[in-house]
Amino acid sequence: MILQKKLGLLLALSLITFLPIRIVKAQNNIIPKPANIKLGNGSFTINNQTIVSYPKKNTELRTLVDFFNQHIHKISGITLSSNKKYTQTIEFKLVDIASLRKEGYRLTVAKDLILLEANAKEGLFYGVQSLIQCLPAIRTNEALNIPFMEITDYPRFGWRGMMLDVSRHFFSVETIKEIIDLLASYKMNVFHWHLVDNEGWRLEINKYPKLTSVGAWRQEVYGSRWYAKDSTLNLNDTYKYGGYYTQQQAKDIVEYAKARNITVIPEIEMPGHSGAALAAYPQFSCTGIPQAVPNSTVVNGIKGHRGVNFEYCAGNDSTFLFLQDILKEVMQIFPSEYIHIGGDEVEKFRWEECLKCQSRKKAEHLKDAHDLQSYFIKRIETFLLAHDKKLLGWDEILEGGLASSATVMSWRGEKGGIAAAKEGHDVIMSPSDPLYFNRYQADPKTEPFAAGFSINSIDKVYHYDPHSAKLNTEQHQFIKGSQFALWTENIATTEYLEYMMLPRMPALAEGLWTPVAAKNYDDFIKRLNAWHFNAWAAKGFSFYQALYKQKY
Ligand code: ACM
Ligand code: ZN
Repeated sequence: MILQKKLGLLLALSLITFLPIRIVKAQNNIIPKPANIKLGNGSFTINNQTIVSYPKKNTELRTLVDFFNQHIHKISGITLSSNKKYTQTIEFKLVDIASLRKEGYRLTVAKDLILLEANAKEGLFYGVQSLIQCLPAIRTNEALNIPFMEITDYPRFGWRGMMLDVSRHFFSVETIKEIIDLLASYKMNVFHWHLVDNEGWRLEINKYPKLTSVGAWRQEVYGSRWYAKDSTLNLNDTYKYGGYYTQQQAKDIVEYAKARNITVIPEIEMPGHSGAALAAYPQFSCTGIPQAVPNSTVVNGIKGHRGVNFEYCAGNDSTFLFLQDILKEVMQIFPSEYIHIGGDEVEKFRWEECLKCQSRKKAEHLKDAHDLQSYFIKRIETFLLAHDKKLLGWDEILEGGLASSATVMSWRGEKGGIAAAKEGHDVIMSPSDPLYFNRYQADPKTEPFAAGFSINSIDKVYHYDPHSAKLNTEQHQFIKGSQFALWTENIATTEYLEYMMLPRMPALAEGLWTPVAAKNYDDFIKRLNAWHFNAWAAKGFSFYQALYKQKY
């Protein structure tokens, strides 16, 4: 059938099907809930005589279509056809519809035609995710019916992300890919990879091999107090713990993520949280004293971390050359527009006691340690800008004056993000309450040990809106989106990681994608029950089960 005719038929059918629009019982289970959805009467049945059609020259689309075909086969044993004699078609089509922008799509399910249209592969990818969630969640012998409908869908925010700390606990490439798949299925598009912290350096750097040969390994306490509630451990009994990603593995993850519309943003912490790097190269700390890789960020409670260096020396030019060499390799691996440089929780006492830092302050006319931190970040910003990269940092980078092109990730509540947006800086909202998913998701009495401070329940996450009421509409344009964070002091296994993400990840995903007026928490829980919990159970994921009603 030629296209014109097909579209004519489609138009006729849509008149029949959608006028008058009836909200039929056909449940749509899509998370995040589409911006616009009209359900019709009847359904399209996918079988061995359904053809898939797409612009064949486009290899990225071919990969997407292969992915869709494999999914259909996995859940039903059905192989989609390319035999033109059949008339039932699933068509993937690139179009030019301004309102859909880069990530939006239109999905029309009518008699004999499923038409998926988007301006770019991103939108088609999300259309496929929606289609998958319209199919059975688990392998079935029943007919693959998709209800007649028309969806026009696009995200509310362009930045929908997650941060994973792989320093406190190391996670395999396989686990990272599993997480990326999960993010993609909920139309999230940023994976912020916290590769560096006091407790371990996790990325191979060719010029400085000790970063991984020394910095990736720590002497860990058995059942460390970070993961045991009532530890009676002898802190002198230790074992070697660690791991790192080779540059090839990191590149592989970048590619894997890219094929799923996900940008990987590396975080290389500085000037604080750098105890592992300073175990490998102590000459870049203020004291230069050799140290072991710390096995916690609060060291023995002795006056902060007085016994151990966590901060780079801001007075030593060779520190900057060292960091620039590292960043050069990082930029080769990660094509992202942004490099995250941390910038949080810098303890200044060491700088106050360091002659080099004090002479830097004098030479640069800096009044205090906050100014020195600001000097540090601005110097790195200049380097990144010279390499066409943008600097992203935690909200402490506001202290002492924000680097002019910096983007702020607000974690100590929203106040840093609000201040930055008022100054016209781009902002990513990641307030620890409710977006640190290493914190409890329900009453601590009923939950495995997690971080305290706040209970970040599913409904609190669901209702989180990055558009603070303290900002006006004009200022809201600087809020690029939001992300949740998983710090892993207490999270040692993939299973526990899954448990802390599910279902809070989809709850945030809906908050970042769906228009506020279309959101509904009870309906979200219904959709989780109708599809998502079962899909997770079938995949063997661990997840918070208290809301799971009809167990599969
Ligand atoms: C942070 O939680 N220190 C960013
Ligand atoms: Zn110093």
